[in-house]
Amino acid sequence: RKPENHILVIFGASGDLTHRKLIPAIFDLYIKDTLPEKFAILGVGRTSFTDEEFRKRMGEGIETFASMVKASSNKAEKLKSFVKKLYYTSLNTKNAEDYNGFKSTLLNLDKETGTGENFIFYLATPPSMYTVIPENLAKQGLNSENTGFKRLIVEKPFGYDLESAQKLNNHLLKDYKEDQIYRIDHYLGKETVQNLLVTRFSNGIFEPLWNRNYVSHVEITSAESIGVGSRGGYYEGSGALRDMLQNHLLLLASLVSMEPPAIIDSNSIRNEIVKVLQSIRPIKEDEVDKHVIRGQYMPSTIKGVKVKGYREETGVNPESRTETYVAMKFFIDNMRWAGVPFFIRTGKMLPTRVTEVVIHFKQTPHHLFAGNTAITNNQNQLVIRIQPDEGLLLKFGMKVPGSGFNVQNVNMDFHYADLSEKELPSAYERLLHDCMLGDSTLYSRGDAVEAAWKFIKPIQDAWEKDRNISVHGYPAGTWGPDIADNLFEDPHLSWRYPC
Ligand code: BG6
Repeated sequence: RKPENHILVIFGASGDLTHRKLIPAIFDLYIKDTLPEKFAILGVGRTSFTDEEFRKRMGEGIETFASMVKASSNKAEKLKSFVKKLYYTSLNTKNAEDYNGFKSTLLNLDKETGTGENFIFYLATPPSMYTVIPENLAKQGLNSENTGFKRLIVEKPFGYDLESAQKLNNHLLKDYKEDQIYRIDHYLGKETVQNLLVTRFSNGIFEPLWNRNYVSHVEITSAESIGVGSRGGYYEGSGALRDMLQNHLLLLASLVSMEPPAIIDSNSIRNEIVKVLQSIRPIKEDEVDKHVIRGQYMPSTIKGVKVKGYREETGVNPESRTETYVAMKFFIDNMRWAGVPFFIRTGKMLPTRVTEVVIHFKQTPHHLFAGNTAITNNQNQLVIRIQPDEGLLLKFGMKVPGSGFNVQNVNMDFHYADLSEKELPSAYERLLHDCMLGDSTLYSRGDAVEAAWKFIKPIQDAWEKDRNISVHGYPAGTWGPDIADNLFEDPHLSWRYPC
């Protein structure tokens, strides 16, 4: 389906996100012929560029980062016709008076292109601008849908804590309706994350088992093998809890645990996400150290190469207590999940890059083949690999051929790569296209963002107030602090260590 004609305005157009992710994703949409007939991109930034300079820079980004570049036959021609749709205007976004001129530029481009005053405003800017830009646009009447649609895409971080997220929501809702606001969590744009819903709700072999009667525990891991790189300055004020757990991991946990929506539409799905987020049992401030482990990577040698510790990274305080790893255990207090622990962890500088969800099923009630370690160690698992080797792995016991009844664990493994020759669309490609179509299903709703912050709040408060809660060091290139294993009170259980 093609979206209505429109102009996409990108604030922060001279930044990294625009050049690495946004423009390449839109180019991919162009190659797949899924952009509207009349369409333009207006880049806005403080740096002054001519349209030609902007086009050249974006062209370079496309060559390096767009996935369809390789597949496209007459690449040079396509690139040339695509970049003609790009325009640039400089604006001091802090200066309310300058928006008058910006509005004229935008309306002139709209007339020229014939886009019917349909505008999407993408805020690829520092978070400090998330209130300023929308407010100034509204002052110019650019929030009004009397003529054409007006949509606002807001990048993460959406707030810094519960209070700032509520403030930001309230601020935006003064001038925009909730259905005009698209809060991006790029995890929801991932094909395999969306597939969680299909796996759960379209398979009679999984759906009936997805509850406390059959599931012993759920494990979610998002590991990165890289450190903070050049983002030390940002990361110092964020840490793994805000950067990954409050948004991406809690969202994954909600999709794994939510009730089936009555129908597949934006509000039905998002209602279920909010309900489950609101059902997570709050962790009491004085129990944070029992349920949450934080860590920080230390210098180490990986495959003979020396690597820096977090405290030596550029932009990082040498005495920093910012966590680069966090692991926690929580419960969801509802009928489906009562008593089932959820273990989630994320970290930088771990041995590999992998994001996966593991559903651990309970053992059979009677152990006919007792004594077999594979079975007693609870090896019935469904591993949902979100990335990088997208797919599903089912682990179960089979009889070892020959005499006796020896059981061995075997794997049934499906790789997304086997499903089609096509590359999976990038998260940004999917999400941008959905916003163009006016479909907000894969965007976070304000109440869900607030519910996630509310759950995180006692952890933030405890870490801030109580210096006795340790930040455990772990050598870069290892699976985080060993003490994270203690979250599993059962000595037979531990984290899965994917290779
Ligand atoms: C971002 C975080 O939201 O997600 C980064 O700010 C992190 O720190 C990234 O590296 C991980 O995304 P992905 O898609 O590579 O798992």
